Amino acid sequence: MSTSTWRDLGTPKRKSEVFVDLIVDGVEVSVPEGTSVMRAASEAGLSIPKLCATESLEAFGSCRLCLVEIEGRRGYPASCTTPVEAGMVVRTQTSKLAKLRREVMELYISDHPLDCLTCSANGNCELQDMAGAVGLREVRYGFEGKNHLDAPKDESNPYFTFDASKCIVCSRCVRACEETQGTFALTIDSRGFVSSVSAGQKESFLESECVSCGACVAACPTATLMEKSVVEQGQPDRSVITTCAYCGVGCSFKAEVKGNDVVRMVPDFDGKANRGHSCVKGRFAFGYATHKDRITKPMIRENISDPWREVSWDEAISHAASEFKRIQEKYGKGSVGGITSSRCTNEETYLVQKLIRAAFGNNNVDTCARVCHSPTGYGLKTTLGESAGTQDFDSVMDMDVAIVIGANPTDGHPVFASRLKKRLRQGAKLVVVDPRKIDLVDGPHVKASHHLKLRPGTNVAIVNSIAHVIYTEGLHDKQFIQERCEKADFDKWVGFISQEKNSPESLEEVTGVPAAEVRAAARLYAGCRNGAIYYGLGVTEHSQGSTMVMGIANLAMLTGNIGRPGVGVNPLRGQNNVQGACDMGSFPHELPGYRHLSDSVTRELFESEWNVSINPEPGFRIPNMLDAAHSNEFMGIYVQGEDIAQSDPNTQHVTSALEAMECVVVQDIFLNETAKFAHVFLPGASFLEKDGTFTNAERRISRVRKVMDPLSGKADWEVTVMLSNALGYPMNYTHPSQVMDEIARLTPTFTGVSYKKLDEGSIQWPCNEVSPDGTPVMHTVDFTRGLGKFMVTEYVPTNERSSRKFPLILTTGRILSQYNVGAQTRRTENVVWFDEDRLEIHPSDAEMRGISTDDWVGIRSRAGETVLRARVTERVQPGVVYTTFHFPESGANVITTDNSDWATNCPEYKVTAVEVEPVTQPAEWQKKFREFSEEQLNHLAKAGEAERV
Ligand code: SF4
Ligand code: SF4
Ligand code: SF4
Ligand code: FES
Repeated sequence: MSTSTWRDLGTPKRKSEVFVDLIVDGVEVSVPEGTSVMRAASEAGLSIPKLCATESLEAFGSCRLCLVEIEGRRGYPASCTTPVEAGMVVRTQTSKLAKLRREVMELYISDHPLDCLTCSANGNCELQDMAGAVGLREVRYGFEGKNHLDAPKDESNPYFTFDASKCIVCSRCVRACEETQGTFALTIDSRGFVSSVSAGQKESFLESECVSCGACVAACPTATLMEKSVVEQGQPDRSVITTCAYCGVGCSFKAEVKGNDVVRMVPDFDGKANRGHSCVKGRFAFGYATHKDRITKPMIRENISDPWREVSWDEAISHAASEFKRIQEKYGKGSVGGITSSRCTNEETYLVQKLIRAAFGNNNVDTCARVCHSPTGYGLKTTLGESAGTQDFDSVMDMDVAIVIGANPTDGHPVFASRLKKRLRQGAKLVVVDPRKIDLVDGPHVKASHHLKLRPGTNVAIVNSIAHVIYTEGLHDKQFIQERCEKADFDKWVGFISQEKNSPESLEEVTGVPAAEVRAAARLYAGCRNGAIYYGLGVTEHSQGSTMVMGIANLAMLTGNIGRPGVGVNPLRGQNNVQGACDMGSFPHELPGYRHLSDSVTRELFESEWNVSINPEPGFRIPNMLDAAHSNEFMGIYVQGEDIAQSDPNTQHVTSALEAMECVVVQDIFLNETAKFAHVFLPGASFLEKDGTFTNAERRISRVRKVMDPLSGKADWEVTVMLSNALGYPMNYTHPSQVMDEIARLTPTFTGVSYKKLDEGSIQWPCNEVSPDGTPVMHTVDFTRGLGKFMVTEYVPTNERSSRKFPLILTTGRILSQYNVGAQTRRTENVVWFDEDRLEIHPSDAEMRGISTDDWVGIRSRAGETVLRARVTERVQPGVVYTTFHFPESGANVITTDNSDWATNCPEYKVTAVEVEPVTQPAEWQKKFREFSEEQLNHLAKAGEAERV
């Protein structure tokens, strides 16, 4: 199934054990208590005309088009706002109702431009449909009287237009902004005839609080709020259901296409991760896929100081293969390796690690999770037995208290944030643990009960002090611990956690958080019915990242908040397929399904399927590859869809390692920062150009479907297959579904997964004989490892400390409109909202240094120096500065250090001691960067010359 089955039933679904029977137009219907008459009729297959009602929003009852007759009741109640009652007899189609509805429609149409034939919504307009449905043939009123036909258009948003002349003031947009998105950017101004929709305080959409999620546009029944792409390109003629390729929420979209062009991306109401919602990136920022910077021809060159030369696929592949073979002959089998991509599909990632293990014959494979959530894998595997989050996103609607630690969901995981905010508006409570005042701390109709504003680097101290309070105050779930956890480990942990050194009072000095605030937050979490923990890179990207993940798992087990809806440990994973990349065996020590290489039974299984012998020794991690390049031990790399030169710490160390290598092969859609050091460039395909699957943060495997042909002629998996064949290891796949079948054969958690099954809808792994329909909530009866394991989590301060020379702590994060290294979003209109990385600094630190907003400031750490413009703000606390890392020239990673998590080598991005001072010119690194980039762009410009001559 590649088209959505969703039909708008008019009002939201109600959950109730009690069912109510009624009769609608002679049909007996049974629906949950609280259901509207409109929905009951829709469920019976009937259709009542409507304009202001839609299934995703609470009914409002303003348009009066949905009137019905109910036996025994006077008048004509609106079916959208009338709840069903037992024994009701409803009539939806009578001549009286038809007349009333025609009159209502007549009034609407008399104040609406009659330009249907030239309107961009023609053929996809509910007003037009309803005029037809009620049989309106003539309008008795002219346009002479007062009307809104001259109302101005607001074109300020880059992606959609607001044409007030077409507005019927149904308020669906206002309610969508409130209920679905939770931003409250829109209002209805005034009353009666003069009422109108207004963004913010009568501002333009762009100036208002609007975050361009598109919920209002999707909700609008007319052409008032309309995607500019539809206005320009016309209505689409086909659609394909696929999955967003930006963040780990994994929203499902209907890609609407005309010819070979995507006209718009519409969030899919059948999508289980997003339930019909989206954010500005997935909804609108897809133009990068056809941006002029896309490279569509393979290229090679001898040295990075040479111009590129466009070549055929065959030449590029055989050159890359012969280089890898030459390097292995000269430097040894282990001198080459590769990096899989968390942007690519599961199937593509699986093939890259297979190529490395089978064709290169070593285990030198790693992935970007190394620099983000590798501690999640380690920490959760150790404590709970599975390297993944425990819940589905729907679970948040059953949560009573959420602790959000080191995550900024409104920017990083916006669609999840909207659901979290919805639950908070229903009365659930929130604790935020973050050095910075993120939007959730105090937003529209959402306020955190506690903001534990800790010093960067003291996470473990905070989690220990929370656990200390819960245990010493006897708030723990004794029965859960006794039945579900290892006793000896728990006893050992109790001996540790109950020590006075872990009390909030003892740690107050370390964390900077008042003890009373920690105690209150701990009591809130321990005392609620369902407590859920959500966390992000602010937990993992620390020298104690793995310790902190284990501390979080301890907290959940301590309070029995595991194994049912509304609770759990929920890592908000960054990239669209970082969960999948880890599942697919991208780490140097694990085969797919997180099975260690040393496990001979698993190894033999793969050996017999792959027909090779697999080296039982783990290979290099990314940092080891880079170090080994500096000592001539690692000289060739295949990088698929990853930009280590921008995203990994200590940029200069990374780029000098790439320079030291003899063959760097980069497969990407753009000439990214890593590709500037490459010898072979293999053009990649965007998510719109291929089939496959992504696995999101809730372990949900969703189909990615080809919407248009690959611009280079090849999907990424085809290129890996060609390279493997050229290396002498045959791969014979003709479709990614065959790769998934192989994964399912070899991986117990994927046994039941196939493209056929996925066509019925997305599935959360494990999906096997035990759970044929997947597993929304894990560890319900037992933990994957049997009994839960409490781990002692001693707080060890990071080596990276502030000093007189480096008195401030720099921490990093994301912004809503940009994504990761920005390679995609920088090539879209999203730059309207954010076009440069800034340094946030507290007013007191700024004043001390003579810094004002917009000033250029130099940021110096022990690793390097860069220059950014400042933004003076109280969002950060004194002593802490903050920046994003979306623009390569910002060089955020020039200053981050080599410190990393003790267990996984995940870099300590979140703590860098720095000094900041006003400057007048770019840093030395930035000058060199500009020069080098310009040179590389010149080399690229020459790529097609040979062919053109
Ligand atoms: S803009 Fe659209 S959704 Fe909003 S009130 Fe007007 S017609 Fe209704
Ligand atoms: S785009 Fe989203 S945030 Fe902006 S007004 Fe519409 S619903 Fe609100
Ligand atoms: S929340 Fe994430 S997955 Fe959903 S549309 Fe936005 S970027 Fe895409
Ligand atoms: S649809 Fe019921 S009043 Fe508008």
